[in-house]
Amino acid sequence: MKTLHTLMIVGALALSGTAHATPATDALLAKYKAEGVTKIDAAKGKADWTKSGKSEDGEAISCSSCHGTDFSKAGKHRKTHKVIEPMSPRANPERFTDEKKIEKWFKRNCNDAWGRECTAQEKADFLTFLLAQ
Ligand code: HEC
Repeated sequence: MKTLHTLMIVGALALSGTAHATPATDALLAKYKAEGVTKIDAAKGKADWTKSGKSEDGEAISCSSCHGTDFSKAGKHRKTHKVIEPMSPRANPERFTDEKKIEKWFKRNCNDAWGRECTAQEKADFLTFLLAQ
């Protein structure tokens, strides 16, 4: 039984491809592909993470303005200074486990940072980059 269990885990990891993928991220990546994404580029996600847009109050802000660039550490909301738990799924097992939550924050945060929603391509790149942290 133990061997079978181990085999199943190894199999599941191999299938999902990304070490920290969750059922929620598998479903979202499949959705983005259905929306036309053919090639996911984690390096683009990394570059986009620190790319600034203009916020409503005219300041240049990026994803890293609130989440930081060390994914194992907590971030801090740029305005409210509320602590934001680490983005690394290794450091924070609750990360990326709820499809609705991920989409809700992508929508809100892309608007906060860039003043527009992110495209399916940008979200796929971000998600794949973040899962590897
Ligand atoms: C103004 C501050 C702020 C900015 C800027 C920001 N975020 Fe967030 N983000 C948050 C907060 C607050 C949460 C919700 C609390 C949490 O999940 O810890 C969150 C949550 C998320 C989540 C949900 C993670 C999960 O576990 O479901 C994703 C994905 C995310 N942000 C991506 C981004 C991306 C991509 C950018 C840049 C385009 C960005 N964020 C910019 C504050 C911000």
